[in-house]
Amino acid sequence: MRADEQIVVRVPGRVNLIGDHTDYTGGLVLPTVVDSYTTITGRFTDRNEWHLVSETHGEVTIPLDQARALAIDVDWARYPAGVISEMLRIGLAVRGFDGTVATSLPIGGGLSSSAAFEIATARVAIASTRAADVVLDDLELAQLCQRAENVATGVPCGIMDQLSIVSGQRGWATMIDCSTFDVTLVPIPDEVRVEHRFIAQRALAESEYGERVAQCRAIEEMIGPLHQATEHDVERIESELLRRRARHVVTENGRVRAFAVALSDHRFDEAGRLMTESHHSLSRDYATSTPVMDAAVESLLCEPDVLGARMTGGGFGGCVVILRRA
Ligand code: GLA
Repeated sequence: MRADEQIVVRVPGRVNLIGDHTDYTGGLVLPTVVDSYTTITGRFTDRNEWHLVSETHGEVTIPLDQARALAIDVDWARYPAGVISEMLRIGLAVRGFDGTVATSLPIGGGLSSSAAFEIATARVAIASTRAADVVLDDLELAQLCQRAENVATGVPCGIMDQLSIVSGQRGWATMIDCSTFDVTLVPIPDEVRVEHRFIAQRALAESEYGERVAQCRAIEEMIGPLHQATEHDVERIESELLRRRARHVVTENGRVRAFAVALSDHRFDEAGRLMTESHHSLSRDYATSTPVMDAAVESLLCEPDVLGARMTGGGFGGCVVILRRA
């Protein structure tokens, strides 16, 4: 690529059909990419920095120095800064860049706007290295961006968002086994439509997320890996709170499996029922819903062509995902 050539990278968000709060214990998830995107447009420069202008959040300069990149304290810029710093850490010669960032994804809306921003940054950074030998496969790219997010935000997020965005295809759901990282594409039949609706801005998501991850680690100390646990193992947990958290994770893994089969067999009522059950489990056992999200789900379920609905993503607000008869 010539130095003055314009580069445009467009990366979609994701909506998770079923399988929430299972990825960080090696469980199953089933997201799909959405038709909203984060786009980075710009040109490489010979300056030792990235200059990014956001349509909505102002501008920022990120130095191409691992430690200084990470010292950025502008919230939205910590994502690209985290990615750049991870790329420099693994020895990639990232060049200077001057560009703009725009997104049609709701920020903090549960559609992974941050992961889309990270992957877009990583693709620009890789294109900047001029090296034909930058070999990062989908999983390595996703893991690099996951590390960037962990470092940039301090939130110990799992791999779902980044891996589903790099390996997703429109019209297909992406089943990911988060212990082996096996990815299986599951077709979404024409008879149904997957929709999402933004309900409320997320609140408290970061601290509560970290607490759930810690609770799962405590559960695994008692009963071993959650992705291999059975409902019988769950009943052995003495603490009522931890028993409820474990019950969500174990039953949710079962629902992801059952949902993928129901969708493939065109048993859409069953698929919808599993999604709604997943919402109730997140709300009652995992406590990551809110009264506003619960009310939105219940009201959607009253619509005649809605097969199922649930909160999607990290929770405490954001979007609801809906399975509708087409
Ligand atoms: C956030 C995290 C993901 C996943 C979901 C909940 O989106 O980034 O890794 O844990 O929450 O399923």
